[in-house]
Amino acid sequence: MIGTGPYNSLREYLTAVEAHGKLIKIDEIDQDAYELTGFMYKLIDKYGWLDAPAVLVEKVKVSGEWMEGPILINQYGMGGHEALVVGVPLDEIDPEDHILNYKKSLQKMLSEMPIEPMKTKEVKASDAPSKEVVLKGDEIDILSFPFIQTNPADNGRFINTGNLITIDPDGGRNVGTYRMQIKGPRKIGISPEKNQDGWKALMAHKEKGASHANVAVVLGSDPIVFAMSSSKTARSGQDELEIAGGFKGESVEVVKCEDSDIMVPANVEMIIEGEIPLDDFEEEGPFGEMYGYMGLPHESTFYMNIKTVTHRKNPIVVNQFTGVTRGFVTSPGEAASVKGFQKFMPELRGFHIPIDHVGFLFISIEKTKPHQALEIAEKFNFLPIGKIVVVVDEDVNIHSTKEVFQTVGARWQPFPGAKTIEDGPGFFLDPSAKNRGKSSRILIDATRQLPEENGPDVYPKLNREHLVEHDPEILELVKEKWGHLI
Ligand SMILES: Cc1cc2nc3c(=O)[nH]c(=O)nc-3n(C[C@H](O)[C@H](O)[C@H](O)COP(=O)(O)O)c2cc1C
Repeated sequence: MIGTGPYNSLREYLTAVEAHGKLIKIDEIDQDAYELTGFMYKLIDKYGWLDAPAVLVEKVKVSGEWMEGPILINQYGMGGHEALVVGVPLDEIDPEDHILNYKKSLQKMLSEMPIEPMKTKEVKASDAPSKEVVLKGDEIDILSFPFIQTNPADNGRFINTGNLITIDPDGGRNVGTYRMQIKGPRKIGISPEKNQDGWKALMAHKEKGASHANVAVVLGSDPIVFAMSSSKTARSGQDELEIAGGFKGESVEVVKCEDSDIMVPANVEMIIEGEIPLDDFEEEGPFGEMYGYMGLPHESTFYMNIKTVTHRKNPIVVNQFTGVTRGFVTSPGEAASVKGFQKFMPELRGFHIPIDHVGFLFISIEKTKPHQALEIAEKFNFLPIGKIVVVVDEDVNIHSTKEVFQTVGARWQPFPGAKTIEDGPGFFLDPSAKNRGKSSRILIDATRQLPEENGPDVYPKLNREHLVEHDPEILELVKEKWGHLI
């Protein structure tokens, strides 16, 4: 019987999702006809990002061939699945209320902060599931695995959940999730945006005159390793695997690569080893990006020549439907950000990037003085992802976009409760930007306005507050008596 997390492998987690969460199983699907892409859009239309189940497909048609999977999709979308990953006790996970499950995950992560990095633990190759099958040189055909073309406008098939492991010239390890366009049986694109830590590590080798860098890509890492690889939770210079160990309360097991001394997570589905030339760059993309729009192609980026592939028998291939579903668990990173920012913004109560509404940043504060909300919002000007920054009082649930939007409608006066910033850092994938990486932004003060801020002399109460004041037990009572109807 598998319980709540943390889990040591994707497989262990998948077993828990089957036992306690929600998983849709599909026997076979024709991705040459983009049936899986269409399926994911319809699933999200029905459930929304935080409520949609995970999907497992056994067999998929790719490039005219039926390939054995399984392919796993949306395994980290649901709030209840996030709660499983971070170890919320099973009896506390609500079967329906996934905003509540997300908040419980965040509370758990906040209660465990600050976490201490934990050293990795080496295991022998014979004990590493990721080495069950070893393929070398011409035995490798990466196209024979069911990596799919996600969107008709993508430039071909991509591995889009690979964690690239680089070692910088000083010996520091970086783990980052970057998409990889399949360019041939033993050749894949490697696309960290400029200034990502993986990009910096490769450029540091190039500046030292190296002709190539040895790297590895792991696929199907455990949920916390994947979350660390996909976010800035581990700061530049920190080792994502040690930070993952800290969050899990247990060392991440690593194994030595076949062709180099790089140590990589051992409990993964596949390890791809190879070399990245540092004096040759190629075009890459485009690919459907996280804003839900087609991205721009890279004119010149890295690629990797594959030398060795090791994998589990029947490896699970994870495909991320970027811009359609949530891609990784975010509560560990959100907890780390809240705790970090609170050091210089003590009034900060919450900070949330609603990934299903990319471009927004929701902040809640304990407001004690006039003009505090816009002052706080301005402190986030360095963050490219927040183009529309909404600050609310702490009674508002920033994990419910509906509640934030209702609050903006009710509590916000566009004048003087907004500030527009003409020029600043922008997110490189934002389709609205004339110059990628640059953006204007708007700061919205949707806190209750004080009289000094041009607010009303007496701020009216919410009707719900009147109800609960009238009878503090009413909502519990209704749940008990009428819950079966709701
Ligand atoms: C599924 C997925 C795909 C991603 N693809 C890319 C990518 O192609 N290029 C990129 O720069 N970042 C990509 N990201 C975001 C990075 O993983 C993220 O910024 C991470 O912090 C990078 O690691 P680093 O900070 O060690 O560079 C992706 C994230 C996810 C979850």
